[in-house]
Amino acid sequence: MTELEQQLSAIRTEAEAAVAGCADLPALEQLKGKYIGRDGALPDLLTQLAKVPKEDKPRIGKLANEIKTALTGVFTTKREELEAKAETSGPAIDTTLPGRQHRIGHQHPLSQIFARTVEIFRRMGFAVADGPEIEDEWHCFDALNTPASHPARDIQDTLYVDVPPHEKYGRYLLRTHTSPVQIRMMLQQKPPIRIIAPGRVFRRDNPDGTHSPTFHQIEGLYVDKNVTVADLKGTVEFFFQQLLDPETKVRFRPHFFPYTEPSFEIDLSTPTFRARGKEWIEIAGCGMVDPNVFKAVGYPDDEYTGWAFGFGIERLAMIQYGITDIRLFTENDVRFLEQF
Ligand code: DAH
Repeated sequence: MTELEQQLSAIRTEAEAAVAGCADLPALEQLKGKYIGRDGALPDLLTQLAKVPKEDKPRIGKLANEIKTALTGVFTTKREELEAKAETSGPAIDTTLPGRQHRIGHQHPLSQIFARTVEIFRRMGFAVADGPEIEDEWHCFDALNTPASHPARDIQDTLYVDVPPHEKYGRYLLRTHTSPVQIRMMLQQKPPIRIIAPGRVFRRDNPDGTHSPTFHQIEGLYVDKNVTVADLKGTVEFFFQQLLDPETKVRFRPHFFPYTEPSFEIDLSTPTFRARGKEWIEIAGCGMVDPNVFKAVGYPDDEYTGWAFGFGIERLAMIQYGITDIRLFTENDVRFLEQF
């Protein structure tokens, strides 16, 4: 074996050992340059091929080619190996892990009833009206034909606000019902009026399973020419059938409210109530707007008629869903809220 052949074999051995111990791609590139690159050790040796005796040339040339092919293969294999490793050893992201769960909430059951009520009445041409929770005696009582002697104004029921009274409207109080929104709307605009007013009301009550010092009502008011009890009954019936169940039956019972004449209590019978063994459940008050109310807001005599209704949301939700404690609505216990 000539010296040149020995040198060629030595380069192969050396390069193979270097590649085996190489740990990263830049180092591999460098080794490649050093051994088989343009100015590398192998091409450098091959320049000596010219001086080799003629009879040795084919043999040595063949050997040189073999070594070149072998080393090229060694570099390629190592490169692929290092590249594969680089792909899997980046930042530790396991794309097969389940994503972080964001728990999506939903509306409070009472808000759901408000929203659906608004939607149903909107389809019948009603707008949503609003009024202050801190009211005064005139809007809450006098204008609603409820004289100072009426028991509803009693200190027992009404929470008064400890500030000097309004000189025209009397003492300030937390509204005991949403009916004063009727007055505010009638003062603001001329008929036709079609509004519903959802909102919070307050009464002096000791909290227990069925009483709360604050709860919610929905008020409705329709004033125009020639509005009748038939309109009232049809609207109320349609509304409760949409809100609760198409099989809901509605019954009007004569009653008394100062601001309506005639006045009725509305009883409902739904499949759900019936399944709980209750045929009729009293749910709301309503009636034809009393002429004294029109007088209070300055509407001309005999030009308009109208109807109004009002009912408590908590009570309706309790009956519909079989909830036995009114305090659950304000305790924010997720185990309760999740059921709706
Ligand atoms: N304001 C009454 C209450 O709080 C409910 C009510 C009854 C509202 C008759 C009305 C009505 O508009 O016409 O119990």
